[in-house]
Amino acid sequence: MRESTLHLTAADPEQTRVIGARLAGALLDADLREPFVVGLSGDLGAGKTTLVGGLLATLGHAGPARSPTYSLIEPYRLAGRDVCHCDLYRLRDPEELEDLGLRDLLTGDSILLVEWPERAAGRLRTPDLHLQLEYTGSGRQVVLTAGSDPGRRVLARLRLDSA
Ligand SMILES: Nc1ncnc2c1ncn2[C@@H]1O[C@H](COP(=O)(O)OP(=O)(O)OP(=O)(O)O)[C@@H](O)[C@H]1O
Ligand SMILES: [Mg+2]
Repeated sequence: MRESTLHLTAADPEQTRVIGARLAGALLDADLREPFVVGLSGDLGAGKTTLVGGLLATLGHAGPARSPTYSLIEPYRLAGRDVCHCDLYRLRDPEELEDLGLRDLLTGDSILLVEWPERAAGRLRTPDLHLQLEYTGSGRQVVLTAGSDPGRRVLARLRLDSA
């Protein structure tokens, strides 16, 4: 069975962006035909938005990632797909997710990037790929865990890339 966890380290913010960029490449290469959910967990300031910024830039977004802190949701159309960046930190009640219309975004080959997925308390399906960002000294560690077969395919591509 293929390993379903990968540990990466980022000594500075640029390296966190590079992990996001590599994840974007792996997502494009994996020939996904179904919606793909990436969950990003970690303490405040762990680098989740930084990683998403690198990912969005590689998919073709010019400029910094808009912060979805207040809107909770930022939709993009990149590389021919719907890409949505959500930050659920300020979600008051998991029921609010229904109003945000997250479910409608999970169509076709869309990509959903969710910071603070635990706030959804079971109202969001298990992410295909879960990223846990941790502080290590002055840098960060990113532990990636696949939650589905498509997630394992993406992880395998990332692993090839980091070998
Ligand atoms: N590998 C790294 N080493 C050191 N600092 C980093 C690293 N990656 C990101 N940072 C810095 O950490 C700070 C917080 O980053 P970011 O906003 O991406 O965190 P976040 O996890 O999205 O936080 P929040 O939970 O508040 O949304 C930024 O100043 C960013 O430059
Ligand atoms: Mg953030």
